[in-house]
Amino acid sequence: MAMQRRDFLKSSAVLGVASLAPRIAYSISEDWSAEFASALRQDPRLLGWKTPASDAFAAAALRIEGAWPGALEGTFWRNGPAVHDRHGLRYQHWFDGDGLLQAFRIGAGRVDHHARVLKTPKLRAEDEAARRLYSGFGTHVPDGARLRKPDDVNTANISVLAHHGELLALWEGGSASRVDPESLRWQGFKSWGQGFEGVPFTAHPKVDPDGTLWAFGYALGAQHQLVLYHISPKGALVKTALVPISDFGMLHDFVITDKHLVFMIPPLVMEMGMETSFIDSHRWRPELGSRVLVVAKDNFEDRRWYELPPAFGFHHGNAWEEADGTIHFDQCLDDDASLVFDALRNVMRGHLDGFGAAFGRYARMRLLPSGGASMDITVDGADFPQISPSHVGLRNRYLYHLGVADSEDWYLRSLVKRDLDNDRLQTFDFGTGKIPEEHVFVPRQASEQEDAGWLVGTVLDYQHGISGLNVFNAQHIEDGPLATAWLPYPLPLGFHGCFRSGLV
Ligand SMILES: [Fe+2]
Repeated sequence: MAMQRRDFLKSSAVLGVASLAPRIAYSISEDWSAEFASALRQDPRLLGWKTPASDAFAAAALRIEGAWPGALEGTFWRNGPAVHDRHGLRYQHWFDGDGLLQAFRIGAGRVDHHARVLKTPKLRAEDEAARRLYSGFGTHVPDGARLRKPDDVNTANISVLAHHGELLALWEGGSASRVDPESLRWQGFKSWGQGFEGVPFTAHPKVDPDGTLWAFGYALGAQHQLVLYHISPKGALVKTALVPISDFGMLHDFVITDKHLVFMIPPLVMEMGMETSFIDSHRWRPELGSRVLVVAKDNFEDRRWYELPPAFGFHHGNAWEEADGTIHFDQCLDDDASLVFDALRNVMRGHLDGFGAAFGRYARMRLLPSGGASMDITVDGADFPQISPSHVGLRNRYLYHLGVADSEDWYLRSLVKRDLDNDRLQTFDFGTGKIPEEHVFVPRQASEQEDAGWLVGTVLDYQHGISGLNVFNAQHIEDGPLATAWLPYPLPLGFHGCFRSGLV
């Protein structure tokens, strides 16, 4: 094995996270809870950032509007921050809330919903103490407990992965969490092998069509490092590596081709010892540009670098490469990382100004064998891109993402199908009063067509105070959803989900 636990500890990543301490730009003494509650009375869009009244809730046999396709059976899992308020404190960044795992179970013409807050060691310790103990991504909690390791603050709140019979709730600053797929109860941290306890694991792993899992973690410390994982279809760790990276910081996503891993590293740099919250210890340094690291799947020591202009993005769509080695990949990109510092924070006190307009635009990048690189940013607002799982790492014609509608009430209000062969877009605007979330592609069985399948995702109807689960025919999304299963309650807006036709 290329990395032992002592190597990871030597990297000081644990010390690095633990050393983040007491001083923030936003004082926890400010009553964001009252400010948010007041704003919510005026602006129902904020319903998506309200903490649910209970840690577990469910509804059976949801009211279905339209014709639910009988062939679509399975479970749609979703994750996202939900416990924003607890023990008299409202968090001051969207990314801080403890994770709420949801399961929509679909079959025999009905849809059931079940949601449960993940009782991580972090949340259990805080509930036992009856107070928030730990500073989070963007909230500083003064006089908190001593951090011993990153998983002490693991909220398991970003995404969910079903792989080789296991359901994992994903964070990115530490371990993935094992979750019981039936009860949705937190069961323990996932270790990929002896000595890998607590090693950071991304919320955006990539799965080859054959089930091989590729992942990374970012370990920030005295020596910033990227951790690489190669995991077999049966869940066994095949190989790993540590890549030292200077001027490094938060890195949310990556892409793979059939031969390479591709990391676009934005100039968002953690500066150690600043004694502030995690994100406030980062600085935007555009003079560094964006660096792109390409690593061979079959040899993690085979690495090359490219340079692109400064930009910041959360999510990639896909990557693929030509016979001559030219690599194509895409990302939803913004000019800088101000969204993370400002809009995603201010929404927690009910300020939505600038929230939508700060989301990314669709961009395509090209890496040439000669070492040259290019970036082409469109004018199209885009985020939460998805593709068919059969085309991960291969040339895909279709990309699905949330896009901009001609509206003032919400920015990413439409669902877009992008034909990459001719740049044609199919769009469905959800209309006033709706906030759609990520829609994942579910392939129809026994079809060779890339877009033969459904798009499944949630929508918040803030005017009626309820959420729904949509299903679209991916070949005709402009027709609107085939059906929507309406919940009797609203759901907090979350991040990512996955669909499985079997239990896991
Ligand atoms: Fe994400």
